[in-house]
Amino acid sequence: MEIMGRGVKQIIQETPSYVHIFSKFVGYKLFNKRSPVYGSADVINVCNLHCTHCYWWLNRKENEELTVDQWKKVIDEKFKKNNIFIITLVGGEPTMRPDVIELFIKEFPKRICIVSNGTIPLKKYDNLYFYWISIDGTKDIHDKIRGNGSWDKTRKNVIDYVEKNGKLAYKDMWITMTINSLNYKTVNDVIEEWRGYSNKIGFQFHTPFMKNDPLWLPFGEERTRVVDEIMTMKEKYSDYIINPDSQLELMKKNWGGKGTTPIDCPTWAILSVDHMGREKRPCCIGSAEDKAMKPICEDCGLGCYSVLVGYGMKG
Ligand SMILES: C[S@@+](CC[C@H](N)C(=O)[O-])C[C@H]1O[C@@H](n2cnc3c(N)ncnc32)[C@H](O)[C@@H]1O
Ligand code: SF4
Ligand code: SF4
Repeated sequence: MEIMGRGVKQIIQETPSYVHIFSKFVGYKLFNKRSPVYGSADVINVCNLHCTHCYWWLNRKENEELTVDQWKKVIDEKFKKNNIFIITLVGGEPTMRPDVIELFIKEFPKRICIVSNGTIPLKKYDNLYFYWISIDGTKDIHDKIRGNGSWDKTRKNVIDYVEKNGKLAYKDMWITMTINSLNYKTVNDVIEEWRGYSNKIGFQFHTPFMKNDPLWLPFGEERTRVVDEIMTMKEKYSDYIINPDSQLELMKKNWGGKGTTPIDCPTWAILSVDHMGREKRPCCIGSAEDKAMKPICEDCGLGCYSVLVGYGMKG
């Protein structure tokens, strides 16, 4: 038996963490006490791609990086202190900092997810929870967004990983697709193309930082049809597609806030730090700096927060 890729033995070993999560949940439900459960860390300030939809490039500035020792301090002072359960490593491209990845996995075994573009050969880490591999459509469209040749590289690296690391290696591969106005017609094809090489797939929608961003898929008929299509595919591949229906329904309309202000979005539930270990606001795609560009909450399609709203957590 497995729950979200976690076996019974692992769940038993993690009992102390579940006690913390349970008490956070009870504290929230009974006393509206808000304490973060998840974390995200931009472990690198460099990327080997320059994707057209990417929020990270919008606010990227200096070339500074933290050392492994500095990250250990961030882990202790932010993530351990707050009893964070699962941490997602992002960037930039996190696979370019294997030293920091190793540290995080050592400190949080089976509780680290690496979000990666998959263009660099994927290292096998014992005790990794899983890789989230970003796929943004079928080959031509993915390459239009992520750059020529990127789909082939990612495809090869995922297949190599699955074929070289034993029969359960596919379980380490989860696909994440950010749906936008260029790729929304390819959702079913992406499911069919990747399900043989991955354990799960999750969908989210492009979140704009300016009004009239042409990549944003407007609320209305077409967006609703895409969401309904995912729900229909779920009937066929219920173990593969991870978005709950409650979240998918939210994605059809504004669930997050007004203008650039989060309202229903539970920003408090995910503690997000940038490449210097500073807390980002209002959320993981925001910034630690007040003058930075801000995501538009009323048009938000982010999966990690909308799933929490779908489960009844609010801002
Ligand atoms: C910034 S990337 C960092 C990790 C890695 N470089 C990658 O591409 O997977 C993290 C995720 O955010 C997604 N993303 C980038 N810009 C976005 C936006 N404006 N709205 C929603 N998701 C976005 C990417 O597609 C990717 O899945
Ligand atoms: S690979 Fe990831 S971080 Fe790099 S530009 Fe693309 S989405 Fe952004
Ligand atoms: S996830 Fe970020 S952009 Fe989206 S509603 Fe929440 S705070 Fe706003």
